[in-house]
Amino acid sequence: MSAIRAAPGVFELKRNKSRHEPQLQHKYSLGHDDEPVSPSDAPQESEYEEEVEESVREDMRKLEDTFPGISDRFRLVNRIGEGTFSTVYKAEDLHYDAHQNDWDVSTPTQDNYAEPPSKRRRFGREPTGRKKTKFVALKKIYVTSSPLRIQNELELLHDLRGCGSVCPLITAFRYQDQVVAVLPYFPHTDFRIQYRTFMVADMRHYLRSLLTALNSVHEHEILHRDIKPTNFLYNPDLKEGVLVDFGLAERQGSEYTNPCLCTHQSYVRRSRILSSYYSKNPPSTGFSAGYPKNDSRPSRRANRAGTRGFRAPEVLLKCTSQTTKIDMWSVGVILLTLLGRRFPFFNSADDIDAMIEMSSIFGTKRMKTAAAMHGQIFETNIPTIGEKGYSWEKLVKWSSCVEDLTESEQQATRLLSGLMELEPSKRLSAADALEHEFFTDPVHHDVPWGGNPEESAESGEEEEADDADEVAML
Ligand SMILES: Nc1ncnc2c1ncn2[C@@H]1O[C@H](COP(=O)(O)OP(=O)(O)OP(=O)(O)O)[C@@H](O)[C@H]1O
Ligand SMILES: [Mg+2]
Repeated sequence: MSAIRAAPGVFELKRNKSRHEPQLQHKYSLGHDDEPVSPSDAPQESEYEEEVEESVREDMRKLEDTFPGISDRFRLVNRIGEGTFSTVYKAEDLHYDAHQNDWDVSTPTQDNYAEPPSKRRRFGREPTGRKKTKFVALKKIYVTSSPLRIQNELELLHDLRGCGSVCPLITAFRYQDQVVAVLPYFPHTDFRIQYRTFMVADMRHYLRSLLTALNSVHEHEILHRDIKPTNFLYNPDLKEGVLVDFGLAERQGSEYTNPCLCTHQSYVRRSRILSSYYSKNPPSTGFSAGYPKNDSRPSRRANRAGTRGFRAPEVLLKCTSQTTKIDMWSVGVILLTLLGRRFPFFNSADDIDAMIEMSSIFGTKRMKTAAAMHGQIFETNIPTIGEKGYSWEKLVKWSSCVEDLTESEQQATRLLSGLMELEPSKRLSAADALEHEFFTDPVHHDVPWGGNPEESAESGEEEEADDADEVAML
């Protein structure tokens, strides 16, 4: 990090000053206002400032007051996200022209994307001149986050610079214990608004972009750990999205302590299972019904970071050798949400509930096998959970309230079953998924969804904010 001159005590990641060199071909551009077609009928967005609530203005003022120099560099426009670990603001980059902006390649299509103008209410200083306004997203990371975690997020983003569909880090500032990451502002549509109207062709664009991002992330042996719709900012006009929020991401293997049983050869697994307490005291003796008294075994700890409803089975089963495949399960949950027209699809109160939801789909037989892979025993006495489970096709039909799936939906459902595979080693990787017939040989028999949106909405949109987005960490 190097000190910047304007504000004493503020530190900024190294950022190159503007040079007249050919720019790198990155895909993303800063959200910005296009030059008006004619000055009278196409005003710039900065003239139509967003409507900002008083409490938000107060919050933005507080950031400006407590972070020296930030208002010299950026004009805060609005608050666009409030997460578990940060608040994100949209801001105008006032020094855009003073820097080398390699990652900002504005294509004509992107230039044409303009957000709908809203009421004129300004916050902060007046925008200058009539040149293009360049917007950034300022992610203010809460001071309660550990410095190591913040450093990890910034380092991983730095490693991933230049990766397609991954939101690049422009720079970052620190003042005392406050850290602000600067990212390009990416206009996107709220998933809750778009998911029910998606045709299969839209799902294809969405997934291709998400999988492209994950393919790069996984090639760098990085696990994102929190794949979910609010962390993938999708723009339906561009048919592209960007992956954000590497707050929980980690390098594969960085947390491995005791290798999980799933990393061993099957004969080792078998012999370990045969010599286990459970095998020596089989259910017929009545010992397995409950937890052993005075259990002397150390409790098992594994990284469970992620969001309820999107956690892979091996995360729930406390696998200590988690791989990039955990992200692929979460992609499967997104596809299931799109095909099943329900958000959130899984709505569990805790990990045990989540296991029950999974067992209702997969059946006890497959759950037992999956648990044994990670040296765990799966038992349930819930009478409604059958042994065999259901096919994905049946589930998608029930969930979306249709009698038959179109050919394209059937094809998407085949991809779904490859993603929502209980065993991580058999689950599709991002590279495999991109090679799936769904992308390479798409069936174009696509019809708008004929189900009843009201019915599918019953799964509790209101609960979504609380339930689907909760992040748990060990
Ligand atoms: N580059 C960006 N462009 C536009 N909006 C963004 C950008 N980055 C983040 N946001 C908005 O801010 C929200 C929160 O961002 P992010 O996920 O990085 O923070 P977080 O605190 O980790 O969130 P959470 O805990 O909800 O996952 C996003 O869902 C998105 O709506
Ligand atoms: Mg997030």
